[in-house]
Amino acid sequence: MSKIISIINHKGGVGKTTTAINLGAALSLFHKKKVLLIDLDGQANLTTHCGVFTEPENSIFEVLYSSLPMKDAILSFPTFDLVPSKLDLSGVEISLVNRPAREMAVKKAIKTVSDNYDLILIDCPPALGLLTFNALTASDAFIIAMQTEFFALHGLSRILTEVVDVVRDNLNEKLVFAGIVATMFDKRRALHGDALEKARENYGDEMFSTVIRINSSLSDASADGKHIFDYEPTSRGAIDYKSLAKECIKRNLL
Ligand SMILES: Nc1ncnc2c1ncn2[C@@H]1O[C@H](COP(=O)(O)OP(=O)(O)O)[C@@H](O)[C@H]1O
Ligand SMILES: [Mg+2]
Repeated sequence: MSKIISIINHKGGVGKTTTAINLGAALSLFHKKKVLLIDLDGQANLTTHCGVFTEPENSIFEVLYSSLPMKDAILSFPTFDLVPSKLDLSGVEISLVNRPAREMAVKKAIKTVSDNYDLILIDCPPALGLLTFNALTASDAFIIAMQTEFFALHGLSRILTEVVDVVRDNLNEKLVFAGIVATMFDKRRALHGDALEKARENYGDEMFSTVIRINSSLSDASADGKHIFDYEPTSRGAIDYKSLAKECIKRNLL
């Protein structure tokens, strides 16, 4: 059976998309998982990160807006498959709002393809709106990507109480908190060490022990439309995401 995991945070620029592609690639390459990535962000960063630089004809937008079967939106790559996104998705939340079972649209679409995959990773937009609610309703578990910075913890407890608890109580009681992954850690910066320590004090075992260090190869790979194992397999970024994948297996997430 496939596992569905959402990567969330209400903030942008914290490493959600970088985690989606590189964790997905690591689980495919080193753990032989058949992986589907879903770009659920209208900014379509995951889509370009996968090397799709021109707007795709079919995307998650058509799936959600005009009921295109999800299989018709899937693009295949050597390491994983992708349901791309496009700018139009940013308007889809408004049209979903008035629909019955509006939180179920993503779940319904995924159900039609999930048997073909071991893991489906959903890259969420930087907001806790209807699309993120849809992702969490469809998911077995979620990972919070947290940029290692002074204000990182600010708002995290709200994600857990105002979003996750609401989803669990009303839409998806089996939703598991897989953990928080600290990203863009720079050991030369004392404040990063403090932020990590504070997060570990607050969240204990819910913090992944793997910390994703700051590494320019990760952003260069994204600009080049490649995952890190394709772009620079010996980089710190590659080492860290390989370790995160191993930890996901150890934590029985899939
Ligand atoms: N560990 C890292 N080291 C260096 N740059 C990173 C790292 N993680 C992400 N980035 C860069 O930071 C920016 C934001 O990351 P991204 O994954 O797109 O965040 P989000 O999806 O949360 O908005 C991107 O340009 C990305 O390439
Ligand atoms: Mg993103």
